[in-house]
Amino acid sequence: MKIYVGEDYKEMSRKAANIMSAQIILKPDSVIGLATGSTPIGIYDQLVKWYEKGDLDFSNVVSINLDEYKGLSGDNDQSYRYFMNKHLFDRINIDKNKTYVPDGLEQDSYKACQQYNNIIEKSGGIDMQLLGLGHNGHIGFNEPGEAFEKETHCVNLTKSTIEANKRFFEREEDVPKQAYTMGIKSIMQAKKILIVVSGKGKADIVKKAFFGPVTPEVPASVLQLHNDVTLVGDRDALCEIL
Ligand code: F6R
Repeated sequence: MKIYVGEDYKEMSRKAANIMSAQIILKPDSVIGLATGSTPIGIYDQLVKWYEKGDLDFSNVVSINLDEYKGLSGDNDQSYRYFMNKHLFDRINIDKNKTYVPDGLEQDSYKACQQYNNIIEKSGGIDMQLLGLGHNGHIGFNEPGEAFEKETHCVNLTKSTIEANKRFFEREEDVPKQAYTMGIKSIMQAKKILIVVSGKGKADIVKKAFFGPVTPEVPASVLQLHNDVTLVGDRDALCEIL
């Protein structure tokens, strides 16, 4: 595993954006796996800046996101499709028809997940997968205890996640109870993994995930078995391992 440290969030974002840019410049039709969450926002801002300067061209890039809430449409501002449009896709020259996020409106979970597995397979596989890291070691919506061998599947959100999401919705029945996520197996099939972490709050889990035992109890620990992982973090998040 390669580890790069940035002094702060901004520098971490810039380093990770550099690695993604290199991938796109060297292979303009790259298939890039993308993540939502707070950590990648600075990376997306940086990529947009370089695009605006004329240094990056996304016209041949294919993107495949990790996950989406079941039941939310892309124009719901809590959906991950909405997040991606807002932070990246609407700001660059990517062909929206080549940006994939699981179909939150497909009620048939089996169909939604099979469709997504087909999209990944037909794309030729993910060249570089960007990941964030949950405080409990989750990647995508793969929570502790998930089997390592799963591809895209439907997960039941934990009570605490549903509780935490309540404030974003007018009516309690609108809060998503399930999500579609790439599984650990799908993630592990990416040719390269780029995982980004920021803040003191991630320091313990970074140590557990990358220097502790490989166990489904810490889903990200499986990345120790992947042969091309790059970890980029700010000093706070990496303080336990530097
Ligand atoms: C996002 C995702 C999640 C986040 C993780 C970290 O698509 O699948 O696994 O990457 O929860 O989130 P942040 O970056 O907000 O700490």
